[in-house]
Amino acid sequence: MGDKKAQLSVGDITAEFDVLSGTLGPEVIDVSSLVKTGYFTYDPGFLSTAACESKITFIDGDAGVLLYRGYPIDQLATKSNFLEVCYLLLNGELPDASHYKEFCKMINRHTMVHEQIRNFFNGFRRDAHPMAIMVGVVGALSAFYHDSLDIKNPEHRASSALRLIAKMPTIAAMCYKYSIGQPFMPPQNHMSYAENFLHMMFGTPCEEITPDPVLVRALDKIFILHADHEQNASTSTVRLAGSTGANPFVCISAGIAALWGPAHGGANEAALNMLHEIGDISQIGKYIERAKDPNDPFRLMGFGHRVYKNYDPRAKVMRQTCYEVLEAVGLRNDPFFKLAMELERIALEDDYFVKRKLYPNVDFYSGITLSAIGIPTNMFTVIFALARTIGWTAHWNEMISSPYRLGRPRQLYTGPTERKFVDMHDRV
Ligand code: CMC
Repeated sequence: MGDKKAQLSVGDITAEFDVLSGTLGPEVIDVSSLVKTGYFTYDPGFLSTAACESKITFIDGDAGVLLYRGYPIDQLATKSNFLEVCYLLLNGELPDASHYKEFCKMINRHTMVHEQIRNFFNGFRRDAHPMAIMVGVVGALSAFYHDSLDIKNPEHRASSALRLIAKMPTIAAMCYKYSIGQPFMPPQNHMSYAENFLHMMFGTPCEEITPDPVLVRALDKIFILHADHEQNASTSTVRLAGSTGANPFVCISAGIAALWGPAHGGANEAALNMLHEIGDISQIGKYIERAKDPNDPFRLMGFGHRVYKNYDPRAKVMRQTCYEVLEAVGLRNDPFFKLAMELERIALEDDYFVKRKLYPNVDFYSGITLSAIGIPTNMFTVIFALARTIGWTAHWNEMISSPYRLGRPRQLYTGPTERKFVDMHDRV
């Protein structure tokens, strides 16, 4: 901490605050003592508020930088794999060969779910949105693993983290199998994390499948690119729920609920739905005009980003992967994917989008890639949740393992002032 101070004067009160520096990013003004003056800060949407200190992920939206524990996302996506990234996010360092082997072994040990969990699925309608099932089933894991619920015990926390990372693909694939009326496929521990997921999604007891390595690698990259994104809405939800002392399984379930919204994890689903709505290359011009019309609420889904105003470093990696997958599955000339690529080309050249720096974001390319792999649209957010589980878990663990306080925001109250109760027959 340096000696820099910030001062705030309101009326005849002057308060002084420490200015704190991180290793990267803007300095912050520590306003935690402001409450003593009788004032609160007001910052809806947390646009100017750092809610915690963290060592996990750094984003510089203007420079298009995303670092996990200091490592640039493009290097991790091209040189690493998802389980190695999970280890990094959880532990702070890349594993050496023996730690990596041990970590994979531990994950494999937990890939199955308790047999009773199968029964949960029967309680859901077959047409239930898989995110609705995920919220319920992941929260319900806390009813099964009583041996790892002591959040003050680091071994319990590590055990819960492994269980969550290991079981998410199994539960996600079960959601899909249930929706199409096929039997659940047990995990295959000799397969890699992404390969096993594709096997549980698309294999059947009558037909084993060997997933195409190009698709396996693409999915693994999607997992890496979505693994963490610092204090986004769902991660902040997990931290807030965790600050009450709630167990990790229900905290992650809260994160899944927050991710479901179209303003957060639902964007790649929305991008695909928009492409279907456009329907034909001949219609693109009409939709581009609609997106530019200030009186039309229509926006090009999968374009623009709140934080990345120059480019999204994840989109750069995902774009190349998207093209590789389209080539591998022979869909490069499919009318639907040609439409997507034409939309990308036109928007990248159009003055309106260029001036506002509205580039295709990671969700545009990941939506197309997942669709080309054969994943149904309503499973896209589930895959995001599967990948983000490691980020949520790492943030939850970081918070619980250092001194923390119950998260309890304040408010600017604008409701009625105190008034007397009126009996019903006297109300007008
Ligand atoms: N299509 C058309 N115009 C747009 C779009 C778009 N997708 N996005 C922004 N604009 C325009 C907007 O109308 C405004 O124009 P003007 O200056 O003339 O009023 C200008 O660009 C700035 O927009 P903004 O709303 O101030 O930007 P924002 O930072 O608040 O919005 C956004 C960011 C992601 C909500 C927005 O770009 C959007 O709605 N995009 C489509 C949805 C989407 O793809 N979301 C996924 C984001 S990635 C998710 C993740 O990382 O987890």
